[in-house]
Amino acid sequence: MTNKLNNIGVLTSGGDSPGMNAAIRAVVRTGTYHNLGVYGIMRGYAGMIENDIKKMDNRDVANIIQRGGTILKTARSKEFLEYTGREKAYNNLKKLGIDGLVIIGGDGSFNGAQQFSNDFDIPCIGLPGTIDKDIAGSDTTIGFDTAVNTAVQAIDKIRDTMDAHDRLFIVEVMGRDAGYIALHSGIATGAENILIPETETDMEDMICSLTEKERRKKLVNLVVVAEGGVLGGAYKVAEIIKDRIPTADIRVCVLGHIQRGGAPTCQDRLIASHMGYYAVESLLIGRKNVMVGVVNNKIYYTPLDKAVKEKQRIGQEWMKIVKILAS
Ligand code: F6P
Repeated sequence: MTNKLNNIGVLTSGGDSPGMNAAIRAVVRTGTYHNLGVYGIMRGYAGMIENDIKKMDNRDVANIIQRGGTILKTARSKEFLEYTGREKAYNNLKKLGIDGLVIIGGDGSFNGAQQFSNDFDIPCIGLPGTIDKDIAGSDTTIGFDTAVNTAVQAIDKIRDTMDAHDRLFIVEVMGRDAGYIALHSGIATGAENILIPETETDMEDMICSLTEKERRKKLVNLVVVAEGGVLGGAYKVAEIIKDRIPTADIRVCVLGHIQRGGAPTCQDRLIASHMGYYAVESLLIGRKNVMVGVVNNKIYYTPLDKAVKEKQRIGQEWMKIVKILAS
């Protein structure tokens, strides 16, 4: 141990994601292995401000690796955006002797962590916990794999009824401003079109290809839409298509929060355990304000502000592949 770390805090913040519990478990058990006091902070930054903080031991995280949601609960705190809120939070941590934090969350949570450590010089380690995969510095995020698999299972079911009725289905998936869930679930379910915010959608081209398919009686068509698309979601897309192809029998399905729940996949449990372990090891050797990610199956560290600002990029080649495979 190179610095005087005695106690650490762990919290989950922002939208929950499957695998957060596995990450909490890894942080608690790695911390106790190193004889650190580990504190669970309830409801993210809100609990830090309200002193809703409890000491945890290994038994508190038994039987949770397979559970979705987060035993620490989560929230988005407006008060933490203000200096006075962060000061209250810091005073609560100091009273308990907490001198390092592990924050499991997405971009909003990392912005908060960065600001907090700028104000009070407390080392913060971020773990990317979000179904959106909208963070740079990691090939994947805790919860993404589960969310995509949930979307795939749901779309497979939709395909059965879509096929039975010769219908055109527009399915909207989550992702906020990112199109990864749409891209991955769309490719895995053989979608004819995938609309994502990262690439411009040529609506005219899409209408032409759907009209041509209608002409040759290929009436079963699946369009997967990312919620953050510029056209404004699945209902808007359905309106545009109906306007141009009035004969199309269209149905819309918005998958919504079902994508955030459920037991984490093996991959999400693995990366959460791996990242949680390295979060504590990082604090012990004096790392601060970095996110623990996984790149090419190896642990990779990215400054928190860079992880938030840079995002990941979706290669144009994917859209070409979608088009070729859907013909
Ligand atoms: O960031 C995760 C996410 O599920 C996004 O995909 C979605 O836009 C948002 O959270 C929904 O947030 P809420 O649960 O507050 O409605």
